[in-house]
Amino acid sequence: MAAPVQPQTNPRAAWKALAAHYKTVSKLHLRELFATDPGRGERMTVEAVGLYLDYSKNRITDETLRLLLQLAEESGLKARIEAMFSGEKINITEKRAVLHTALRAPKDATILVDGKNVVPEVHAVLDRMASFSERVRSGEWKGHTGRRIRNVINIGIGGSDLGPVMAYEALRYYSDRSLTFRFVSNVDGTDFAEAVQGLDAAETLFIVSSKTFTTLETMTNAQSARAWSVAGLGGEESSVAKHFVAVSTNAAEVAKFGIDTANMFGFWDWVGGRYSMDSAIGLSTMIAVGAENFRALLRGFHEMDEHFRTAPLERNLPVLLGLLSLWYNDFFGAETVAVLPYEQYLKRFPAYLQQLTMESNGKHVTLKGGKVAHDTGPIYWGEPGTNGQHSFYQLIHQGTRLIPCDFIAFAKTLNPLGRHHDMLLANVFAQTEALAFGKTPEQVKAEGTPAWLVPHRVFEGNRPSNTILVDRLTPEALGKLVALYEHMVFTQGVIWNIDSFDQWGVELGKVLAQRIIPELEAGEEPELKHDSSTNTLIRRYRKLKA
Ligand code: F6P
Repeated sequence: MAAPVQPQTNPRAAWKALAAHYKTVSKLHLRELFATDPGRGERMTVEAVGLYLDYSKNRITDETLRLLLQLAEESGLKARIEAMFSGEKINITEKRAVLHTALRAPKDATILVDGKNVVPEVHAVLDRMASFSERVRSGEWKGHTGRRIRNVINIGIGGSDLGPVMAYEALRYYSDRSLTFRFVSNVDGTDFAEAVQGLDAAETLFIVSSKTFTTLETMTNAQSARAWSVAGLGGEESSVAKHFVAVSTNAAEVAKFGIDTANMFGFWDWVGGRYSMDSAIGLSTMIAVGAENFRALLRGFHEMDEHFRTAPLERNLPVLLGLLSLWYNDFFGAETVAVLPYEQYLKRFPAYLQQLTMESNGKHVTLKGGKVAHDTGPIYWGEPGTNGQHSFYQLIHQGTRLIPCDFIAFAKTLNPLGRHHDMLLANVFAQTEALAFGKTPEQVKAEGTPAWLVPHRVFEGNRPSNTILVDRLTPEALGKLVALYEHMVFTQGVIWNIDSFDQWGVELGKVLAQRIIPELEAGEEPELKHDSSTNTLIRRYRKLKA
């Protein structure tokens, strides 16, 4: 058996200083922090690349910030940023460069991987995507029977699904409403069955999106899609050429599946799945919103990349966001972060962030193979406002757990409707105010509340939040927001000294499922060699399904 991983002690001076500093700051209330420093609401803000971050309602002082920034310096953040941007193989367990930033680099940039400039290839794929998207959008690309495509179904899972779904929902306002977009990810047959409900195979195009083109869920759904499509098109196998395209890094598997590699859009092993929505994996997004809007999305990403790479750490949005959530995660023991977009179009943004943050930083082993000395990736979750206010906000306001929140709002709505937007934004500001300042027993009593009810109606406050305010939800703005969180994750991964770009933790379940599938399907009672719980569950399932 391999030797157990040993906890690593943390030699960084700033970490020790922060631990000592926490003892003072944790006792301070945001009411006091604002009373003694009334200007913090103006000072503790950063505006860059069109995003305004108010981080003043955090349980920090100037000294906290100074120490957190020192921690970033001591962790070598600047050098690590350069290492990522310049294509060093910083994903050490998979020996890969991490270059999602190259996907949005301008045409004249040079980014070398193993001595080769990858930017021309990136733009060549973008150009092919643009021409294909245009042919589908204009009706020039015809299905097998000569009818134009009206439905686009993306089949993928994880990064090959969450990015496309999130971006489609986020940019729906900009989408071609004469086309229907659906997304299939789950191996649960219901997902596929519902996605094709009411659709005509003659007008339906499938995009099979999978970096590896071997993922069980995606390949199973793709086979079912092919069967459904071919059956709907008179059983003619040749119809696949007009109704299936692939997005993958694996041309051999694409060909094996029966998709002509002329209809394949490639990307590269230096793009992680959860960092791929701006690669060819974004083909459904591009068909939905058009190439111009897609390029605007990429420009937004790139602007945030440049900001992250060049802005001083104290005015660097992803760095600040990363340090602040690390402060709660590692010193206050907060286990989660709520992301609360007050924008209906961002309804899948929290789900998207879950893979980005948790698959990246859900690690307990350092780059050198030791056990981390402190907690890593917090649990990200959330729902769009104001819906969350009527369900889980109770716990954030009055529960026993500390839940730092990121509020995301837009000054201008895409759908002006009477007073709706002012009401929406009033709720953002009210929630951050209520969380920070609460309501004291004295205030509750002064309202004439009977004594016995007072404790129930008190709001302790001192609940931290960030507010991110953007002008309006455009493709650029979406790119900036996603890149903001990508680089926040990177910042934290550097400080925790972990590999944010592998995902070995998803492997064991996949392997065990492959072993169990034949046991569920066997005609004869199989000989089971699992634990007694798993054996009994398998036997029970076999009996029930019979
Ligand atoms: O199982 C996890 C994962 O590897 C993710 O990292 C990835 O986004 C997803 O599966 C899908 O992988 P693929 O694009 O290769 O089908």
